[in-house]
Amino acid sequence: MKIHRMCSRGRILSGAFAGVAAVAFVLALTGPATPRSQTSPPLGFPRTDHAEVDGLALTPPMGWYPWNIFGEEPQNEKLIREIVDALVASGMREAGYAYVGPDEGICFTRGADGKLTANLERYPSGLRGLGDAIHAKGLKYALYTDAGTKTCSGAMPGTRGHEFEDMKAFADWRADYIKIDWCNSTGLVIADTYSILAKAQRAAGRPVVHSLCSWGDGYPWLWAGAIGHMWRTTADICAPGKADWARAMRITFANEKLHGFAGPGRWNDPDMMIVGMPGLSEAQNRSLFSLWCMMASPLMAGNDLRHMDKSTIDILTNLEAIAVDQDPLGVQGRVVWNDGNVSLWAGKPLHDGSQAVLVLYQGKYRAEKKITWEELGLRASDELYVRNLWTRETSGPHAGGFTVSVGPDDVAFLRLSKKSEFPVPPIIVADSYLVPLRAANSRPETLKGTVTVTNKGSADLPPWRVDPGSLPPWLAVAVEGRGKVQSFANTVTTAGLKKGRYHALVRADNVDPVSGKPMSALYYDVDLEVARNVRR
Ligand code: GLA
Repeated sequence: MKIHRMCSRGRILSGAFAGVAAVAFVLALTGPATPRSQTSPPLGFPRTDHAEVDGLALTPPMGWYPWNIFGEEPQNEKLIREIVDALVASGMREAGYAYVGPDEGICFTRGADGKLTANLERYPSGLRGLGDAIHAKGLKYALYTDAGTKTCSGAMPGTRGHEFEDMKAFADWRADYIKIDWCNSTGLVIADTYSILAKAQRAAGRPVVHSLCSWGDGYPWLWAGAIGHMWRTTADICAPGKADWARAMRITFANEKLHGFAGPGRWNDPDMMIVGMPGLSEAQNRSLFSLWCMMASPLMAGNDLRHMDKSTIDILTNLEAIAVDQDPLGVQGRVVWNDGNVSLWAGKPLHDGSQAVLVLYQGKYRAEKKITWEELGLRASDELYVRNLWTRETSGPHAGGFTVSVGPDDVAFLRLSKKSEFPVPPIIVADSYLVPLRAANSRPETLKGTVTVTNKGSADLPPWRVDPGSLPPWLAVAVEGRGKVQSFANTVTTAGLKKGRYHALVRADNVDPVSGKPMSALYYDVDLEVARNVRR
């Protein structure tokens, strides 16, 4: 048997190596059996949530990741760029999907100096070049590595023993999100290991969404809020290339049990989605998406965005369903009743005083379920409007309860409110996360570049705030416009600057005007190239 791995630059693995690779592949699908050891936060690490400092992922991260549909092959720059274009063209960017990049297929290697090097055959622009291209499209850059000695396939070096230099490399490549796997980690203490990686990220100076991927090993929901933003709770949702509905349902109900551990900046991650992958019906696609929204899960699409039918696009971009996932209260819904075929999901209050309710039907024939207000913890006499998030119809007000009819593997996904309006919380979309500027003259110049940010949610936003004290002396940022569309006007004054390259990472903050809760911080890069020394 021969396995051709492009990550190892066309090296042919055979014999014993192929056997090892095959075992690694199986482990990648199931998650290796690492001893479940440490269950409390690592010593010496703050108990406060990581997100309170960097303001990242206060609602579940949304984006796309390649593993579910592609596996390791054929990830390369061309593919990622095509996916980026498809993400924008399909309307997914406008629906809030932002984090995109390679998974295990990054294919970097470690040089004799210990430093990671990009594979230029597969990523001709280099990993920084790919990041810049993604930022220029108004998207955020996601990258992958492993906490052990090697990644799961064995084809790439893990971070073990190189945590600080690797996290620095990721910061230099301008990653905004780092998924860190847990393969080849025998002998490592899990919370300590991820804690070192979080410290290394802080030392590297670029705030990143830290996505822990230990498949539930080490019970990350008990301690990882202090060092990351999301953690896988289960084994992989499918083998690359083909969705597996039964496995997805097992993962759903395992993740459901952990509802009490989720909250703003600390998310249970039941894995990337399988919506739109071969092997799922339209009803199953709709159900999976609704369940992920109900569980306030990260919404990382895992399908081939270049080839989506209308139904898949409609499901992935349903802003009313996304509104439930992205609700600023960040509560994970849970099962409140289950007869084996029908499960009733509730316990998800939303920022405007409404609440989300879901009925999942796993039986063979269409069934009806009467939802009583009392089983949702409400008074029977409450008069509630019912919004169906898929048919987009509002009915009511209804007292006592509401009956839904649901087909096999399908859901009824509802929002209940005393009001007939169902506002969408802030969903933020930027036209770019990169401002590249160049000063050619030796006389002082003023250069300008703008980032425009739109809220796809219902309410006008207060003005975004940028702390002027956080900016370098050559940069000023003014927030222009009001409400839904606001711009960051970046003004660079070059007087007195020496020839060279300058960089600033700008942080902007805002709050949801309905709940008053902080929104995820928004970061963008300003690059300034000064071609000659500039006079004062
Ligand atoms: C593990 C992860 C997957 C994917 C692969 C890559 O199995 O759980 O999501 O990243 O590794 O090898």
